Amino acid sequence: MKGIIFNLLEDFLTENLGEEKFEELIDGCTLKTREPFVGPGSYPDEDLLAIVDRAVEVMGMTKTAVLRVFGKFCIGRLARKYPSFFNRHNHAKAFLKTLDAIHSLEVKKLYADAKPPEFIMEDPSPDRLVMRYSSERKLCPLMEGLIEGVAEHYRSPIRYRQRQCMLEGGPSCEFELEFAPAEVVSS
Ligand code: HEM
Repeated sequence: MKGIIFNLLEDFLTENLGEEKFEELIDGCTLKTREPFVGPGSYPDEDLLAIVDRAVEVMGMTKTAVLRVFGKFCIGRLARKYPSFFNRHNHAKAFLKTLDAIHSLEVKKLYADAKPPEFIMEDPSPDRLVMRYSSERKLCPLMEGLIEGVAEHYRSPIRYRQRQCMLEGGPSCEFELEFAPAEVVSS
């Protein structure tokens, strides 16, 4: 996984636990990586999961909950780092429909050795979107948090349910999203 994700996780944990507890948490992890994580670097997925597992113990939350809260946190940071990916859309659905292009084109331009997730979208009606996420990493709880972060960013409530899961043997994780109807502006 790219260093940028490790850096986001470090920021998330520092913000939630404070510098000192964060350092203790990292010291308690057995990591393959010895040097500090830097954005453009690539590091073993196992190291990310080792930090998450330790965070589960320290924060007293389930792994699903940690990944979900972390995912939500990521969107604010990504929007600050890559504003143009967000600003060119004024609605969460329009942004989400570009996720595959963001990951397979833009992320690959920024980080040639990235192994980003894949997304297939189905647009059955104006207020719905079906997202099929696939990745060997099978991080669907992270997906949930990222979707919640996108809803918050665009101030557009999203109801979602997961219809299929790779962790249960599915070919992808399938999320069905329902967007709140656009507000009627009275004159
Ligand atoms: C402009 C916004 C975004 C940027 C720049 C971005 C970029 C990235 C990058 C660089 C990675 C690491 C890939 C690697 O290490 O090979 C990643 C991973 C990931 N991204 Fe995004 N991302 C964005 C938004 C989103 C959103 C909104 C979602 C879902 C709703 C999403 C879902 C994921 C997931 C689940 C992963 C984990 C890796 C995996 O499952 O294989 N991303 N993203």
